[in-house]
Amino acid sequence: MYKVIVFDAYGTLFDTASVKEKLEEFAGEKSEAVSTLWRHTQLKHTFLRQVMERYITFDDITKQALEYALEVHKVPFTRQDTNQIFEEYLNLKAYKEAPDALKELHKMQKTLSVFSNGNMDMLDPVIENAGISNKLDSIISADSIKQYKPSPASYALILKYYQIKREEILFVSSNTWDVTGAAHFGFDTVWVNRDQSLFDKNGTLPKITVQDLDELVHWLKLN
Ligand code: LAC
Repeated sequence: MYKVIVFDAYGTLFDTASVKEKLEEFAGEKSEAVSTLWRHTQLKHTFLRQVMERYITFDDITKQALEYALEVHKVPFTRQDTNQIFEEYLNLKAYKEAPDALKELHKMQKTLSVFSNGNMDMLDPVIENAGISNKLDSIISADSIKQYKPSPASYALILKYYQIKREEILFVSSNTWDVTGAAHFGFDTVWVNRDQSLFDKNGTLPKITVQDLDELVHWLKLN
């Protein structure tokens, strides 16, 4: 019986599409390529910095990755431009089904948490601006121990915070590497696969795969 449902942030609760729209104002037809390289570089840098023990906060990694992606695609920019594009990360929309799904989970007496690589300077505003701060019971940032997901030490933060057993926690993410990390740590996991992607071949398959958070609520009502 799951007492706590833990959600990843970007791509799971929050749709990063609006960042792409802002990016289009600066990169035009290159925005798709820049956006893909940006997200790839952002994640690659968290992994590399974790292994090298060279931690810096997720907002700085995100800004550096953006500048790299713009430079690779020869898109001219100023620091003001990149700050403006980054600001979109603080104003992401929650996926349309998220608010009601969170409300329903609360009715089912579930405790709801966000656990993210984002630092609190990113998480507080995006959760507030998306209007879901009153639907969450806690926000846990990997920044509190400066260990990025998918390190086991980062997932251990959730156990420390709630002082409950691993099997009482259900971990929800759209990122396959995050699902694998949480499963490796010992949580039951849910993969939110909104765009019919393929799961990592080197991954640990999730307990269930859902298309959106409504399907997660439905599954929890039956299990
Ligand atoms: C997070 C990103 C990696 O919220 O989705 O941790």
